[in-house]
Amino acid sequence: MGMSRSFLVTFLGCLVLAVLIQAQDQSGFISIACGAPAGVNFTVPNTGLNYTSDANFINTGVSRTIVPELRDQFLQNVWNLRSFPEGQRNCYKINITRGSKYLIRASFLYGNYDGLNMLPKFDLLLGANRWLTVNINNASVSLDFEIIYVPSLDYVHICMVDTGHGTPFISAIELRTLRIDIYETRFGSLETDFRVDLGSNRGYRYNYDVYDRYWSGADLDTWRPLNFPIDADSLVQNDYKPPAVVMSTAITPANVSAPLVISWKPDDPKDSFYVYLHFTEIQVLAKNQTREFNITLNGNPWTENISPRYHSVNTIYSTSGISGEKINFSFVMTETSTLPPIINAIEIYRVKEFPQPDTYQGDVDAITTIKSVYGVTRDWQGDPCSPKDYLWEGLNCTYPVVDSPRIITLNLSSSGLSGKIDPSILNLTMLEKLDLSNNSLDGEVPDFLSQLQHLKILNLENNNLSGSIPSTLVEKSKEGSLSLSVGQNPHLCESGQCNEKEKEKGEEEDKKNIVTPVVASAGGVVILLLAVAAILRTLKRRNSKASMVEKDQSPISPQYTGQDDSLLQSKKQIYSYSDVLNITNNFNTIVGKGGSGTVYLGYIDDTPVAVKMLSPSSVHGYQQFQAEVKLLMRVHHKNLISLVGYCNEGDNKALIYEYMNNGNLQEHITGKRSKTKFFTWEDRLRIAVDAASGLEYLQNGCKPPIIHRDVKSTNILLNEHFQAKLSDFGLSKIIPTDGSTHVSTVIAGTPGYLDPEYYITNRLTEKSDVYSFGVVLLEIITSKPVITKNQEKTHISQWVSSLVAKGDIKSIVDSRLEGDFDNNSVWKAVEIAAACVSPNPNRRPIISVIVTELKESLAMELARTKYGGPDSRDSVKPVTMNLNTEFSPQAR
Ligand SMILES: *[C@@H]1O[C@H](CO)[C@@H](O)[C@H](O)[C@H]1NC(C)=O
Ligand SMILES: *[C@@H]1O[C@H](CO)[C@@H](O)[C@H](O)[C@H]1NC(C)=O
Ligand SMILES: *[C@@H]1O[C@H](CO)[C@@H](O)[C@H](O)[C@H]1NC(C)=O
Ligand SMILES: *[C@@H]1O[C@H](CO)[C@@H](O)[C@H](O)[C@H]1NC(C)=O
Ligand SMILES: *[C@@H]1O[C@H](CO)[C@@H](O)[C@H](O)[C@H]1NC(C)=O
Ligand SMILES: *[C@@H]1O[C@H](CO)[C@@H](O)[C@H](O)[C@H]1NC(C)=O
Ligand SMILES: *[C@@H]1O[C@H](CO)[C@@H](O)[C@H](O)[C@H]1NC(C)=O
Ligand SMILES: *[C@@H]1O[C@H](CO)[C@@H](O)[C@H](O)[C@H]1NC(C)=O
Ligand SMILES: *[C@@H]1O[C@H](CO)[C@@H](O)[C@H](O)[C@H]1NC(C)=O
Repeated sequence: MGMSRSFLVTFLGCLVLAVLIQAQDQSGFISIACGAPAGVNFTVPNTGLNYTSDANFINTGVSRTIVPELRDQFLQNVWNLRSFPEGQRNCYKINITRGSKYLIRASFLYGNYDGLNMLPKFDLLLGANRWLTVNINNASVSLDFEIIYVPSLDYVHICMVDTGHGTPFISAIELRTLRIDIYETRFGSLETDFRVDLGSNRGYRYNYDVYDRYWSGADLDTWRPLNFPIDADSLVQNDYKPPAVVMSTAITPANVSAPLVISWKPDDPKDSFYVYLHFTEIQVLAKNQTREFNITLNGNPWTENISPRYHSVNTIYSTSGISGEKINFSFVMTETSTLPPIINAIEIYRVKEFPQPDTYQGDVDAITTIKSVYGVTRDWQGDPCSPKDYLWEGLNCTYPVVDSPRIITLNLSSSGLSGKIDPSILNLTMLEKLDLSNNSLDGEVPDFLSQLQHLKILNLENNNLSGSIPSTLVEKSKEGSLSLSVGQNPHLCESGQCNEKEKEKGEEEDKKNIVTPVVASAGGVVILLLAVAAILRTLKRRNSKASMVEKDQSPISPQYTGQDDSLLQSKKQIYSYSDVLNITNNFNTIVGKGGSGTVYLGYIDDTPVAVKMLSPSSVHGYQQFQAEVKLLMRVHHKNLISLVGYCNEGDNKALIYEYMNNGNLQEHITGKRSKTKFFTWEDRLRIAVDAASGLEYLQNGCKPPIIHRDVKSTNILLNEHFQAKLSDFGLSKIIPTDGSTHVSTVIAGTPGYLDPEYYITNRLTEKSDVYSFGVVLLEIITSKPVITKNQEKTHISQWVSSLVAKGDIKSIVDSRLEGDFDNNSVWKAVEIAAACVSPNPNRRPIISVIVTELKESLAMELARTKYGGPDSRDSVKPVTMNLNTEFSPQAR
């Protein structure tokens, strides 16, 4: 249908307004009419939405109104606007619930408010990142931009930035709380590109739409519109809740025998899209009629045999981003269908990544307190450190590679400060340089300043400070770790409490210590960190929850097993692309190929390494790269693959791991590898214990716990000693510690290993990894494929359960073992595996129990081989079976 970028925007201009049906809950809504008179709330009659003035959310800018002639074309909430003739960056600060999912909409109607008829262009920031450039190209058109965003702080900043192309302004800001488990992405937020009520020629929003999404109509010649009104009460909804009025219309192809095609050309082929297709049958079909169709995406099968149900919403959506030069969805009638395909509504979102983390919350709180305590009049708005170009005046920050920026310099010299030195400064824990000189501060120099561990420069010159200088500060100054300047404080040390000598010393230090070495070295650190940040600027991250550079502030602080954290940290290397070429000898030897890239053999100082080059074409390669670097930088365990270094030069992204000589577990199980080792029962148990220990570390050793999400036998690698290590953390997720016990996410992972519960509910828990591990354990025991390649496509767990029911252990275990194992040991392993693959997650054991039980199973086998020898295998002890009764074929 060849949609253009401005589709949503232009259609919204002619949004036909909903007539009030009944007042609906607006509790998850924040509706701000910018520039409306302070303290005034009003209800827009057409929508029933209640708006509040923006006065509580911003202190700057001026309130203006659009030209009166335009009023009757627009809703009351955009009649006013706030314009920002002063200051480069002006910000709204809106309190929200951290971690909730919001639809955020910003509206801009210029309406020639200033009588100049000059259309401005300016930047819009969301938090620490640029969201987009607002380019007003028609004074009487309202531009509406939407994003689905999960804030990581208790507030969001929405800022207008003057880029020298006219005065920024904003008309309205609307936030709508969405269910957390809809519109899921792996990474990034979703910007609305199109939201179309197909077959309709008008638009809808609240209160037809409970989420107040804007739906625009679209009616093209190549489609035949259908319209069969549905009563809201009789429509069976799903979580996406497309309004009944939107679902009442649909389109089918104008030519009944031709496919229905929806296609568009992205502005940038690298853009990644999430598409939501909403269906319901709106016609009553006769007995001999069927409507069934397949959907192809760019010619490849996407979904099959869709048969929309009468008055019941079905939403089909992509679980990962779609990209390409052209995106083409074709709806093709199946052979048995008598009716052409239909679709009722479509939503297309573009992935927008916000790479720059917000400044560390503790620093933001502290600087905000300092600002209010001293009434600092500087233009301090929005995020203190980011974007870097708009750093607050008087601050300097560090920008760790993937962590939140931290404030390291506070310069409030000559800022008219008065009163005492405030303890809130202490909360700027990374502060290296504090300059409070040339103010009117009084009171004593507080002892607490010595608690700022990183403080290197303290300048208190030319104030009214009194009392003696705390000995702790004097000590630091003597040691040379602090450059202390306290001159021109007439009352300092003159109150009699301090002795003359110390004062002299203080002043001596004063002169002596304001020397450049300390400054230079501090500057050096900053420059170095900035350089690292620059190299890795594109190393994006989702939010500030997961961090890895500063161990002490990080929510993930794994208990390191044996090895020294700092040593390991320093071993992590950043390599250039030319280094990578050298290491791999120009990609000479391929050792593996996966979905996200190719793995090459390389050498660093004669030590073999595995170099995974992420293919730029892999949509998620980039995000998985980021996820993996983040995780492996912090996580170290003998049963987790370790990261030697990485390369991040533009499209050249490489991960360099320790080399695992013996490939992956599956190759050995299936005998695919040329030189496979036949694993004895003991070997198998050792590998199982290793893999379980790696998982146990992720779940119990890491805080917050980590879900691997892709445990499978190809992700268990073996080194030269056949020690097993878990690899491929590209899909891993960190479980938030805020009390919720699951992560709601799109389905990832590998068929056959995927927790059926997760498949149904989209709920991800530690028990999902336990399930996958159970499948691996079954593979280890049986050497059978996870899903048989025959017609029935039997899952390994179904196959095993049928044999367990018969008590037929001999048929379960890999026949090549020829009975060379301790029966009890095998039964124990089968029991564990069976419990792990229980469809009910509550019945699955926790990972620490699995490790203990597997070790016991190993001990039984060792007892046999060590003391009994192969012949004792017939002295079978009675076996206690307490197999889980839930161990039954899965519902699929
Ligand atoms: C306006 O609405 C806000 C919340 O939307 C509420 O906090 C405030 O009290 C209301 N003000 C008046 C004057 O009703
Ligand atoms: C909107 O505001 C009106 C009057 O200010 C009030 O009566 C009504 O309850 C509000 N509606 C909602 C849904 O908050
Ligand atoms: C936002 O939250 C902060 C801290 O809880 C509070 O001080 C402030 O008044 C709130 N602002 C608004 C506009 O409600
Ligand atoms: C601006 O938009 C209005 C309403 O859509 C339209 O009538 C007018 O022609 C447009 N003006 C320009 C300069 O494009
Ligand atoms: C309708 O579509 C069929 C199949 O694509 C094509 O063969 C036929 O020419 C089309 N008819 C018209 C009138 O376009
Ligand atoms: C379906 O049945 C109706 C009569 O009930 C008949 O008129 C129509 O031709 C049939 N359609 C098809 C496709 O067989
Ligand atoms: C639709 O998909 C099914 C299942 O894959 C396939 O058998 C059938 O041939 C497809 N039909 C068309 C018209 O593509
Ligand atoms: C911040 O750091 C930069 C570079 O390190 C330096 O040029 C600048 O003067 C510093 N600004 C302040 C306010 O200290
Ligand atoms: C420092 O931060 C903590 C935690 O946010 C807060 O409780 C405390 O009041 C702050 N201290 C000062 C002096 O502002």
